[in-house]
Amino acid sequence: MVDTSKMVKAKVWVLDRRPLGEPTIEDFKLLEEDLPPCSDGDVVIAAECLSVDPYMRYRARKMPLKTTMPGGQVARVLESKSPSWRVGQYMVCYPGWRSHTLVTAKELKEGGLGSYTPLPDLKDFPKSTGLGVVGMPGNTAYFGFLELCQPKSGETVLVNGAAGAVGSAVVQIAKIKGCKVIASAGSQEKCEWVKSLGADHVFNYKTTSVTQALKDAAPDGINCYFDNVGGQFTLEALPHMADFGRVSLCGAISTYNDETRDKGQLVANSPFDAGLIITKQLRVEGFLVPRWIARWMEGLNQLKQWVVEGKLKYQETVTEGFENMPKAFIGLFHGDNIGKAIVNV
Ligand SMILES: NC(=O)c1ccc[n+]([C@@H]2O[C@H](COP(=O)([O-])OP(=O)(O)OC[C@H]3O[C@@H](n4cnc5c(N)ncnc54)[C@H](OP(=O)(O)O)[C@@H]3O)[C@@H](O)[C@H]2O)c1
Repeated sequence: MVDTSKMVKAKVWVLDRRPLGEPTIEDFKLLEEDLPPCSDGDVVIAAECLSVDPYMRYRARKMPLKTTMPGGQVARVLESKSPSWRVGQYMVCYPGWRSHTLVTAKELKEGGLGSYTPLPDLKDFPKSTGLGVVGMPGNTAYFGFLELCQPKSGETVLVNGAAGAVGSAVVQIAKIKGCKVIASAGSQEKCEWVKSLGADHVFNYKTTSVTQALKDAAPDGINCYFDNVGGQFTLEALPHMADFGRVSLCGAISTYNDETRDKGQLVANSPFDAGLIITKQLRVEGFLVPRWIARWMEGLNQLKQWVVEGKLKYQETVTEGFENMPKAFIGLFHGDNIGKAIVNV
């Protein structure tokens, strides 16, 4: 007979309905489930904080309905029958929007970005930084900017979404590399923070024309453009690129809630003017951060060192309560977060 007194109950958010345009709370459903017993080699983990990220909107377009929303979390080992994990140890892992998870011996051994890895020693910094500046968004900034933009000291760099998890790190890495940084964000408070991070010119794209801001701030052209936003912003930014400029296409959040895409139709409104890319001889490259999985720890170690040295500052916007996962996620599209958006269980 199963001893039900020891059963762990998990709360799980599933995608209940496919979002059309901007996601709504009703697109998600909170379920409760009993975890299976912890067998030889398995562990049971409890999430302490979870990440909400823009890519989840993309996944919501393709993932099967009624399945768990994807995502990362920092979790504590509650029960262990694995020789590699002890009770109380912390890990960074990707079981999705779940409060508790049984992780099988087989899953514990799997590699790749979705692997179960010990939380790096983050000194006195919050554990949630393992989901932000010393985690996936940090590495997105580190590799996506340094590898694709190849910035040189003295060059001019443009970063949008600059008060977000990825953008705020790119601004500071560009300053560490000796670049002039032009940045944009969606409120005065955000712009002031980005300025305090060392950006040379910061503008609010909601109140200032991108074309005018770049005309003023980059009269000699932009050498490196790290794009988190896409759409109209990129349309207006590209004419300001210098010859032989490099564009790192990280994200296109301004297009994620596009209903045309939800309906599976191709979108014909690309901001990329081929003639302009050719005549300016630009290099434009998209990336997904798992490309650098083999160098993952190199990135995290460097980011951690910069944080410890005070060269890389971060903020987090913390939403309390696992029941508020959808609210925190939807908030990303309203600019509710400064720095990394985190949900505490
Ligand atoms: N390629 C990869 O492997 C990879 C990995 C991670 C992230 N990303 C991408 O990187 C970008 C930033 O991600 P993040 O995790 O750092 O998120 P984030 O910037 O922390 O949060 C999203 C921010 O985007 C801005 N935003 C929302 N809707 C917008 C719109 N219509 N136009 C312009 N800005 C808008 C908001 O800031 P404002 O108030 O400033 O508008 C919001 O706070 C996203 O596009 C994401 O998909 C890519």
